[in-house]
Amino acid sequence: MLVVINYGSQFAHLIARRVRELGVYSEIVPSGITANRLKEMQPDGIILSGGPSSVYEKGAPLIDKGIFKFGIPILGICYGLQLIGNSFGNVDGRNVKEYGKAILHIRKKGRLLDGLGKDEAVWMSHGDSISSLEEGFEITASTDTCEMAALENNSRKIYGVQFHPEVVHTKSGMRILKNFVFSICHAKKDFTMAGMKERLIQDIKKEVMGKGVLMATSGGVDSTVAATLIHEAIGSRLHCIFIDHGLIRKGEREEVDRLYRERFENYYSVDASAPFLKKLAGISEPEQKRRIIGHTFIEVFEAKAKELKKNHPEIAFLGQGTIYPDRIESAQPSKNASKIKSHHNLTLPEKMHLRVIEPLKELYKDNVRELGKMLGISNHILYRHPFPGPGLAIRILGEATKERIQILKEADFIFIEELKKSGYYDRVWQAFAALFPIKSVGVMGDARTYDYIISLRAVTSVDAMTADWARLPDSLLEKISSRIVNEVRGVNRVVYDITQKPPGTIEYE
Ligand code: XMP
Repeated sequence: MLVVINYGSQFAHLIARRVRELGVYSEIVPSGITANRLKEMQPDGIILSGGPSSVYEKGAPLIDKGIFKFGIPILGICYGLQLIGNSFGNVDGRNVKEYGKAILHIRKKGRLLDGLGKDEAVWMSHGDSISSLEEGFEITASTDTCEMAALENNSRKIYGVQFHPEVVHTKSGMRILKNFVFSICHAKKDFTMAGMKERLIQDIKKEVMGKGVLMATSGGVDSTVAATLIHEAIGSRLHCIFIDHGLIRKGEREEVDRLYRERFENYYSVDASAPFLKKLAGISEPEQKRRIIGHTFIEVFEAKAKELKKNHPEIAFLGQGTIYPDRIESAQPSKNASKIKSHHNLTLPEKMHLRVIEPLKELYKDNVRELGKMLGISNHILYRHPFPGPGLAIRILGEATKERIQILKEADFIFIEELKKSGYYDRVWQAFAALFPIKSVGVMGDARTYDYIISLRAVTSVDAMTADWARLPDSLLEKISSRIVNEVRGVNRVVYDITQKPPGTIEYE
């Protein structure tokens, strides 16, 4: 097992991921961790991540120097290397700053750079450099502007690189990490999905003991995989609730019901569209809509949970599909996103007196999908586009009325159906229709029409932080547009959204 100490880099995640890709379990810990706590974790190695600070700055996150005394191999990356420099020499902020691609000249391969060529393309992002170091440290590579770009001290088992081996732009980055993880740390390959599945099931059994688990499942990837895993562990002591707030896609309720009824003995499908619609009546401000939906969801869930607990007093846990990136907030660049929109990822109230259990909390999305596959969940579920909690309400600009919801459901259904038929569904990150609450004039047959506008949005993205509009073929767009106008009553105009994120967002509200 390897530990990654997070000094605030957006790449701390990526480092942990890369180690797992090598088949070794890794965990991210915050920068304030003490040497003793680290020792207790018994890692095979420690990686110090990069970060935006300068080591000599006031308030910069520092390292508990006790960590260097254990003889556990340490690899410092970027800011992590400067922490090593600060502990065993001097760091200087006056050197030439270097960002982006650089050529690394290898002086001596040593143990860390074993297997690399003479010159290697690496990705740099730093302002400070190490200016001096005590004896025992050997410089193994330099760039034109950075003398100490890689170094090692084999007797102390301390290694460092000024560049980022975890990013794809560093061509031999994986080789460097591999050298550290296996040749230097002698870590064992223990992170296979089959092993992980068994471990997670055992952990759930141990944690839940003879009690029951209650869970709100959405039909999405994370909650479906989490519920299936819990079910493998405790069977019918799992109780799943699906709340239909009336703002889901056409056919969604039937599909989710079929999926969960097949899998879980205790599944409850709750039609709550009436209270949601009632509370949303007259509301057009986006944040207000989001708040209302969030609160109503909790109310409905609580009421159902109360009823269930009467008949099943063994229920003591609340299952959640939280995944690793949801938890590591300090490394989550999407923190700002939540200020733009209050994403309502449910934190259910403490007063329910249930202990939270989150079996996927150590996994990334691709791990979750792999695990889902092992649990027999179909690709259709595992590779679905993301769907926001507030559903169609944030795709109907303005008030979400019954009529508008119905129109949007039909238009969206046609769009997705055509994307699937043409093979484009799997090529885009997310696609959906939105409804503009204004009407425009058209002509159908010989008659004048005055109807709503549907906007189609399809985007490509890797993490939803940035997105580009998908270049769908003209002929496909044409087919979708004419089908929607002809088949959906109340729509006489279709537009295609060509806004990137930023400055647009993926959803409309
Ligand atoms: P934006 O609109 O912020 O969306 O560019 C980024 C991604 O997040 C999804 N999204 C949500 N997901 N609850 C969710 O679970 C929400 O309230 C929510 N709002 C947006 C959106 O679909 C996109 O994938």
